[in-house]
Amino acid sequence: MRDDPQSSPSHLTRRAFLQTTGSTAAAAVIAGYSTPGQSASPADIADGPHIEGAVPITLRINGTDRQLRVDPRTTLLDCLRETLALTGTKKGCDHGQCGACTVHVNGRRVNACLSLAVMHEGEEITTIEGLGTPDALHPMQAAFVAHDGYQCGYCTSGQIMSAVALLKEPCGPDDAAVKELMSGNICRCGAYTNIVAAIQHVRKNT
Ligand code: FES
Repeated sequence: MRDDPQSSPSHLTRRAFLQTTGSTAAAAVIAGYSTPGQSASPADIADGPHIEGAVPITLRINGTDRQLRVDPRTTLLDCLRETLALTGTKKGCDHGQCGACTVHVNGRRVNACLSLAVMHEGEEITTIEGLGTPDALHPMQAAFVAHDGYQCGYCTSGQIMSAVALLKEPCGPDDAAVKELMSGNICRCGAYTNIVAAIQHVRKNT
């Protein structure tokens, strides 16, 4: 049987690769150059892989400056997950409808899938990785555990980031007010009652 040249790995085109991976992120996201707590030098950036149209940016993420080159079309979500390997922030709908990708920008919650990374130069970005640690949970993380506010866990980081931001927003005291402000975060498992209980616990005890 004759080999099909198009199926040979050596003939894998860039387009075919992207179709295979099924990820627009792979097209848009460019490799990062620094590790947590360590900034890349300008020379490091200049010597990185050449990506047509990529621009240098510095993002301050969880208190650390990260110097990157990114395609200007890269969303903040793809930049976090694909470039920086901060995969605690989840991609659900990728259309601003589920809240799984919620992060904080300058203390306010943002759907990272609806925002371009290049828009956040110099801004303070916080992801779930920057909120607490397994040994020192943020009170909201601890409350989600105590109140069983997660089931499959996929939406949990977005729920928690939204809930933490909610603490600084105008919100009435009752559960209905909390539900209204959390309505942008969808939980497929339906753990809403427990999520609201966790949030109310933190509101009343901090
Ligand atoms: S992935 Fe961003 S809102 Fe759903």
